[in-house]
Amino acid sequence: MRVVSVVGARPQFVKLAPIDSAMRAAGVEHVIVHTGQHYDPMLSDVFFTELGISQPDVHLGVGSGTHGVQTGAMLAALDGVFAAQRPDWVLVYGDTNSTVAAALSAVKLHLPVAHLEAGLRSFNRRMPEEHNRVLTDHAADLLLAPTRVAVEHLATEGLSGRTVLVGDVMTDVLHRVRDEVAGRPSPLVAELGVPAGEHYVATIHRAENTDDPDRLAEIADALAALDRPVVLLAHPRVVAKAADHGIRLTQGSLHAHAPLAYADLIASVLQSAGVVTDSGGLQKEAFLLRVPCTTVRTETEWVETVELGWNVLARTGAEIAAAVTRPAPTPTDATPYGDGHAAERVVEVLRARG
Ligand code: UD1
Repeated sequence: MRVVSVVGARPQFVKLAPIDSAMRAAGVEHVIVHTGQHYDPMLSDVFFTELGISQPDVHLGVGSGTHGVQTGAMLAALDGVFAAQRPDWVLVYGDTNSTVAAALSAVKLHLPVAHLEAGLRSFNRRMPEEHNRVLTDHAADLLLAPTRVAVEHLATEGLSGRTVLVGDVMTDVLHRVRDEVAGRPSPLVAELGVPAGEHYVATIHRAENTDDPDRLAEIADALAALDRPVVLLAHPRVVAKAADHGIRLTQGSLHAHAPLAYADLIASVLQSAGVVTDSGGLQKEAFLLRVPCTTVRTETEWVETVELGWNVLARTGAEIAAAVTRPAPTPTDATPYGDGHAAERVVEVLRARG
């Protein structure tokens, strides 16, 4: 069996790690296509090196652009790649522009498409990711759902016949890395000189929070006023927008810091007092590490984290302050994101249906 995985953005490299490892263990011919959506070394190369992912076989070098320009460049380039590879499956990941471009190119070439992390919904049509995931689910032949809630969403949209619940591959990689970094000092604790457990880890990168200067200033001010140091692991997008609008990302309690490699991020979250984020992946990683999370959004796809009390949605500065300083959540041993063996299940399902 030959599987072509198409990836391009940071969270997709994390999901690719356990899949590539399971493919290699099962003797599957695994071809990795990197679209080039993310190209900074700390958003791309570091994940391949650190997580032991095979180097990409094909690199499209598409880079940044408006949604149409970026997605269109990927589409144009992928047609030729797929036609040359003729894979048994094209595997696409999550909800980025790389995901929808690969799904669309592949279905039009009559190649079977499997969507990993299918069925997530925010029901917020202003999010580019919501369009990417809905369009990809409806184009794909096989929908690999991470959670029961995702399975229900797919059923509501008439897609049950193509759906398989496999669990969440991010649990696979997180369990592995958590065990590797256990006891390892957090680079942030060392650098900032704060005692372990006495800082917050923050990431803010979504368009809805970065592109409007008033909104970004409100978030920066709220983080700057928190009761402990806040380390903002700043995506290039937030750094650029803050510079454009004269918003300081280092002020008061807030300290801007370059993004971290995956293991350093996990070590830092483990030794933090909490996470403040608008990332999908980090909400779930915080839950899996049992670190309280505040999500700077009006909704989340990962509703289980909220229902179980480990994640609180906060929009205004006052809501952020209240959520971050809330009492500790009730301990839980719930496992809504699977058992850490989702990637093996993905390979089995692709084999059985290939
Ligand atoms: C993308 C995904 C988002 C995901 C995020 C993870 C889409 C629509 N969005 O958002 O779902 O959560 O990745 O990080 O696909 N830039 C750099 N260096 C890079 C990449 C980007 O400087 O290596 C800058 C550029 O100015 C670029 C901007 O960041 O225009 C946005 O990058 P883009 O890939 O369009 O979206 P993300 O915000 O990273």
